[in-house]
Amino acid sequence: MKIAIGSDHAGYALKEKIKELLTDLDLGFTDFGTMSLDAVDYTDIGARVAESVASGELERGILICGTGIGMSITANKIKGVRAALCHDLFSCRLSREHNDANVLVMGERVIGHGLALEIVHTWLLSEFIGGRHARRVQKIKDLEDK
Ligand code: RB5
Repeated sequence: MKIAIGSDHAGYALKEKIKELLTDLDLGFTDFGTMSLDAVDYTDIGARVAESVASGELERGILICGTGIGMSITANKIKGVRAALCHDLFSCRLSREHNDANVLVMGERVIGHGLALEIVHTWLLSEFIGGRHARRVQKIKDLEDK
């Protein structure tokens, strides 16, 4: 699995920690920035990560900003992206099992690094269970074509 990762300045430190985890897990990733603590607009990076997932270039995306809200709103504007803002393990697992979320979003100003890294690990290991949930995800996709 190859991952697209990105953050704004408010998520930069956590992004760097997540990259260490991905390396430990032997997972490939592409870092779409930002590359420092200098202020940037989350919209630019969120869109790039979301587009790389929507196009199939990369399988899943991880986005971090201060709250996670701006990145979530941005990523979900891109057709084919189901971005889930998760700050707990239950939601992150269900975002995969029920919603087939292909982008995980977190807010570095909301949670600690330890929990965030566990969330990433759990999210990457969790799979979509299909069944009745496939029908609902299909209805989300249908909305994109309206
Ligand atoms: C940046 O100050 C902050 O607004 C951004 O990281 C994010 O929280 C927006 O939703």
